[in-house]
Amino acid sequence: MEKDTSKYDHARIALKHADIVQKLTLEEKASLCSGRDMWHFKGIERLGIPEVMVTDGPHGLRKQEEKQLLLNQSVKATCFPTAVTTACSWDEDLIEELGKTLGEEAICEGVRVVLGPGLNIKRDPLCGRNFEYFSEDPYLAGKAAAALIRGIQAGGTGACPKHFCCNNQEYYRMSISAEVDERALREIYLAPFETAVKEGKARTIMCAYNKLNGTYCSENPLTLNEILRGEWGFEGLTMTDWGATADRVAGAKAGMDVEMPSSGGMNDKKLVSAVKAGELDERVLDVIADRVIDLALTSPERREEGYDAEAHDKAARKAAANCAVLLKNAGALPLSEGEKVLVVGEMAAKPRFQGAGSSFINAHKITSLLDALSQEGVTYAYEPGYPLEKRMSEKKRSKLLSQAEAQAAKYEKVIVMAGLPASFEAEGFDRSHMRLPKEQNELIARLAAVNKNVVVVLAGGGAMELPWADAVNAVLFIGLAGQNSGGASVDVLTGKVNPSGKLAESFPFKYEDCPSAHYFPGKRYLSEYRESLFVGYRYYLSAGVKVRYPFGHGLSYTTFQYSDLLLSKKKLKEGESVEVSFTLKNTGHRAGAEVAQVYVGDLTGETACPALELKGSKKVFLEAGEEKRVTVTLPPRAFMHWSSVEGDWAACSGAYRICVAASCEDVRLSDEIEMSAPAHKFAPCSGWYLSPSPEPVTNEEFSDLLRRPLTPEKPLPQKGAFTVNDSFNDMAPQSGLARFIIRFARRAIALSMHAPADDPNCKMMHEVMITSPLRSLSFSSQGMFNEKMADGLLLMLNGSFFKGLGKIIGNIGKK
Ligand code: BGC
Repeated sequence: MEKDTSKYDHARIALKHADIVQKLTLEEKASLCSGRDMWHFKGIERLGIPEVMVTDGPHGLRKQEEKQLLLNQSVKATCFPTAVTTACSWDEDLIEELGKTLGEEAICEGVRVVLGPGLNIKRDPLCGRNFEYFSEDPYLAGKAAAALIRGIQAGGTGACPKHFCCNNQEYYRMSISAEVDERALREIYLAPFETAVKEGKARTIMCAYNKLNGTYCSENPLTLNEILRGEWGFEGLTMTDWGATADRVAGAKAGMDVEMPSSGGMNDKKLVSAVKAGELDERVLDVIADRVIDLALTSPERREEGYDAEAHDKAARKAAANCAVLLKNAGALPLSEGEKVLVVGEMAAKPRFQGAGSSFINAHKITSLLDALSQEGVTYAYEPGYPLEKRMSEKKRSKLLSQAEAQAAKYEKVIVMAGLPASFEAEGFDRSHMRLPKEQNELIARLAAVNKNVVVVLAGGGAMELPWADAVNAVLFIGLAGQNSGGASVDVLTGKVNPSGKLAESFPFKYEDCPSAHYFPGKRYLSEYRESLFVGYRYYLSAGVKVRYPFGHGLSYTTFQYSDLLLSKKKLKEGESVEVSFTLKNTGHRAGAEVAQVYVGDLTGETACPALELKGSKKVFLEAGEEKRVTVTLPPRAFMHWSSVEGDWAACSGAYRICVAASCEDVRLSDEIEMSAPAHKFAPCSGWYLSPSPEPVTNEEFSDLLRRPLTPEKPLPQKGAFTVNDSFNDMAPQSGLARFIIRFARRAIALSMHAPADDPNCKMMHEVMITSPLRSLSFSSQGMFNEKMADGLLLMLNGSFFKGLGKIIGNIGKK
């Protein structure tokens, strides 16, 4: 048996429930290593260990009852604002409070673990699931996630940060390998998880589907055992993403506790055999069983009396209003009483407030912008302006537009509710461009030409190109603001709430400006992160690329003044922290909140670094005219980089710039600090990113960054040699049967969901099905289409049609 030489050693783990674990048979221990069904961890009845119910996540509960099998079927729940929105609050208290409300719903529904937050970095604006993620910045993503976790867990429910790690795209998420250099991995992609684990004290964590540098995250000893447990001291339970198991025995050895969902007992048997064959130490199963038992025995009991759905709706509205980001305001906002207002845009009546996929909430109630305006007694006229999702003739479309245009000239103010339609972005597929639908762009430009007070309210899961931004008076970004997005928007538009959100991601002028645009989403099997550390504003600032709205940007109906910067020390040793204090004054006539941001720039020149990096922030509420002294502590890590040579964090000696800013481009105060640190060695880093229009990083440069040869491109599989690790999509060029299944599945999914094929949930399920390796069929069918049947299908796809069919038929109903 291999000797475990890692920082993590399961032999040294003290079992919390040794008395129970020793009563378990080998088979019982192995059975605890996988789910009972889609949503339950198993219990052991004879020993009084209850089952644990887990449920999506992350911004509300998608709890499915026994017969609710489809994505869009679940019990009613509050749809809170999604991560794209909550991150813009930069307010840990607000996010924690939201987490508490969500945790309360979980307790009332008997849910023991909420599958969230999602905290993957928004590496590229086109990732279809960015709406479920917080930010392009690891500091902000980590703090927001930790706050949500603290909130959810306050009442005893477990949270489950996901997807660990580098699940930064949906394209081929089940099999692609994220190829990332060690420094970017540590500083950008792992850092938020580190915060979630250390500060949020998450009870569980979910691995990603993809591979990381060639190894599946569900069986990656580096991330699971070494880093998560060995370095960060995580004591909770790890689970796979749904169907992410590749090699179960390798997974257990690497630190993967529970396979989700059930694979019909198939993999439990493999664990038992591996122990019997001496390939797996039984102690690994003891430790896993102990973790499952601990979660089961320490979860709160279901609260029978239920929760106050009305109060939760109000909480969702309040939170969303405090997350809205005022991107531009030339005076049209806030609206004044009695103004003649025209509202344009179908989204004002049918709001876009959440994304599709596993996070899809069956919301208790939905309040649109029009509903909320009426409820607040604001008089308005309405024009749909553009069609949403439905196919419409050019003639009808142009009539809608002309009608809105003709009306716009007659009103004092025009509010256009615009944004990304649901079919543009969802779990399961990425956006194909960063634009709004062309009819919306055309409409907004035409309205702006006839009315000087056009206000655009923007909904969507991420950054968008806004070609008309200079022509309109005001722009308010609400993201996907949850079930009461209408109420929240009206609160901000009318000035009842003074906007205080700031962008958690950059809005570039055009997609081609993004640092990852050359490499995203990669080739079928490889996604190369050639931009390394230079994600989002780290790149734009360093390369001098202008963006439409920078990271950290957001306006208010009042103004703030920053002054009197003071650093607690001017000389610092490696390992010390420093306090940054300054005075913040509300210089306007309304109460409001400002998010003050602290960035650090390494000027030492010892290693390549982004121009500035966010290392601290504080949201400060001030009455009109009030001023406060604000202190932000920069911990030792704020001055350190990951040295791949030393395998540790290290500071550089020399000057660091410290900036107090209202956005990453709007530095209000700055000073320098002198660091003294022992001499460290950093891996070389090329300077390609410093040119404003970088040539793609060459193979040689990327190989230097990775400190290894590049992973060769894998050819498409050949018919006759297809394996269970290939997908229908991979096989389609050579297999008529694969092509038939792809076509048939599209219709079958739409029929079973009673929805059109381009419904985002249908699209998502289809995309996932055709790009997933064949082995995951047993997961998607919950073990009904067992491994042997998958082998039969494989035979058919490889050309032995009848032999394969026979194998499928012969194994129906078997385990
Ligand atoms: C998603 C997870 C989700 C799980 C259960 C997966 O497809 O990636 O985020 O929690 O399904 O629905």
